[in-house]
Amino acid sequence: MAKILVTGGTGYIGSHTVVELHNAGYEVVIVDNLSNSHIKILTQLHAITGKWFDFQEIDLQEEKAVQDFADANPDVTGIIHFAASKAVGESVEKPLKYYKNNFYGLINLLTAFNRKLNFVFSSSCTVYGQPDSLPVTEAAPVKKAESPYGNTKQIAEEILAETAAVTPDLNIIALRYFNPVGAHETALIGELPNGVPANLVPFITQSAIGKRGPITVYGDDYETPDGSAIRDYIHVVDLAKAHVAAIKRLEEGKSELNYDVFNIGTGTGSSVLEIIAAFEKSTGETLDYKIGPRRAGDIVQIYGDVTKSNQELGWKAALDLNEMMRSAWEWEKYIKANPF
Ligand SMILES: NC(=O)c1ccc[n+]([C@@H]2O[C@H](COP(=O)([O-])OP(=O)(O)OC[C@H]3O[C@@H](n4cnc5c(N)ncnc54)[C@H](O)[C@@H]3O)[C@@H](O)[C@H]2O)c1
Repeated sequence: MAKILVTGGTGYIGSHTVVELHNAGYEVVIVDNLSNSHIKILTQLHAITGKWFDFQEIDLQEEKAVQDFADANPDVTGIIHFAASKAVGESVEKPLKYYKNNFYGLINLLTAFNRKLNFVFSSSCTVYGQPDSLPVTEAAPVKKAESPYGNTKQIAEEILAETAAVTPDLNIIALRYFNPVGAHETALIGELPNGVPANLVPFITQSAIGKRGPITVYGDDYETPDGSAIRDYIHVVDLAKAHVAAIKRLEEGKSELNYDVFNIGTGTGSSVLEIIAAFEKSTGETLDYKIGPRRAGDIVQIYGDVTKSNQELGWKAALDLNEMMRSAWEWEKYIKANPF
């Protein structure tokens, strides 16, 4: 079976993808510099799969280290590239950190793995900004990025498209994720936010467990049915499976294009107030929340048209809001009882 390099494989989405690659029979090697994840994830992955994964602590910004890794691993036929800095707010404070980390890592990988290669890239629905029509399709225009982080995703897509255009041996899929939430059904891996979570679901679980104060709903006067902002939430395990489907599509050479993009969401929008209600219903917990003003930079609503990924990747999200909330809560309780 093919050997897949998962960069950022001890991170949130990467760790869930390692499990799904293993379940699908792939051999996996993980590279991570542990800048936003914990070495104990390897123990957790072992508990889930019974496998100790090959792990190399490498900073992808270091060109020589990446080249040495590529030379020492001639059997790697595919890369799923998660490793990046991802905090939108921090990227506004430290743009160069984001441009350096997110571009050097990508460029060093593409340079070092100058061979027949399948490559799956973590992009984001942030490239669409506030779309002109919903659900948003892959053909919608890319809007000016709201943050240096968002800009790194847009420019990375351009780097990949331009490189693929002149490199026939390189086959690339960029996955534009909507809002990943939830955790593995074992509650042994999940999201480990750094500091105060900027995203809704980790804030909800931390508030419910007493780690944070009340939840603020940023705006209830938007042009949406209940006035709160709408997003397309996707269970992280479904998202992980989309990466396996993307690698398979590249291996099977099904695409006529050697660079392609896919939306990865459920295709359904949920409002902030609906998420709060779904969490309360699926966990039996009562949340403390208040309505606050709109937050600068937030778009009103977005959800994806997932027809292309359903038809061409043969992938479809299967887990509902109830399972997203239940698993996120189980993980929050696990991490409280078993801090890393
Ligand atoms: N979580 C989201 O909401 C979301 C949404 C859209 C896109 N994405 C993208 O998906 C990818 C994974 O996101 P995540 O939520 O799992 O983030 P994460 O921070 O949990 O995982 C990223 C991993 O990459 C590692 N890393 C960072 N820089 C590195 C470097 N230079 N060398 C080696 N390892 C490095 C970190 O230590 C971490 O383990 C990122 O590219 C992110 O931008 C995430």
